[in-house]
Amino acid sequence: MDKELWVSDDYFPKGLKHSQRLVTNQNYHGKIIEKTYHVYKTLDIVDTDTLLDIGSGLGDVAKNFSKIVEHVYCCDINQNFLNMAEINCQDKTNMSFNKVTNSITPLHFLKDASITKAFANAVFVHCRTNVLICYLKELHRVLKNDGLFLTQYCVESSKSIFVPADKNKIENTINKLNFNILQSEKFTTIHDENFTGINLLLSK
Ligand SMILES: C[S@@+](CC[C@H](N)C(=O)[O-])C[C@H]1O[C@@H](n2cnc3c(N)ncnc32)[C@H](O)[C@@H]1O
Repeated sequence: MDKELWVSDDYFPKGLKHSQRLVTNQNYHGKIIEKTYHVYKTLDIVDTDTLLDIGSGLGDVAKNFSKIVEHVYCCDINQNFLNMAEINCQDKTNMSFNKVTNSITPLHFLKDASITKAFANAVFVHCRTNVLICYLKELHRVLKNDGLFLTQYCVESSKSIFVPADKNKIENTINKLNFNILQSEKFTTIHDENFTGINLLLSK
């Protein structure tokens, strides 16, 4: 795995045992429904959409959308998660699973202007500034005109699982790429009282 892509090897589950820990974690399925609903409402998901789920984990949010949209592309840096997501979604013919292997062109598996809406839930709060910047460049390439991207990143935290990003650098990149910022709002989390994050919604 490209080390640039990833910060905390210890935090995320790597295998079956750890995935079991994840799904038996406090109200896992309730959280999946909440996340699905949030993405559904914010991105205004419709049946003609082609979706991209970055850091798809076990694939449960993506699986919910596969019932509505034309196609869902899942991607993750963790092959074990991708394997389990593929098993979890094996009855869905409109989903594909892709390993992210390159920090500079993480979405190399997608054609230009092939995606209408993209999201990354609980991913970039754990990644360095450069990782998000490379994704923004790639998203600019793969999103169709008027395409949307929804994510969150961290700007302040006292816990090592969260990685503060440089808000100025991220906003400079967004401006250079001519994305429109539809939403950039602060949020906090119960997991860290010193955490500040940004909820970000962009359109191309
Ligand atoms: C906290 S989990 C969230 C999973 C899912 N998005 C959800 O909301 O249930 C973070 C996921 O992001 C993946 N991930 C972390 N860094 C990544 C990167 N640079 N590119 C793609 N996936 C990444 C991890 O392997 C993990 O599956």
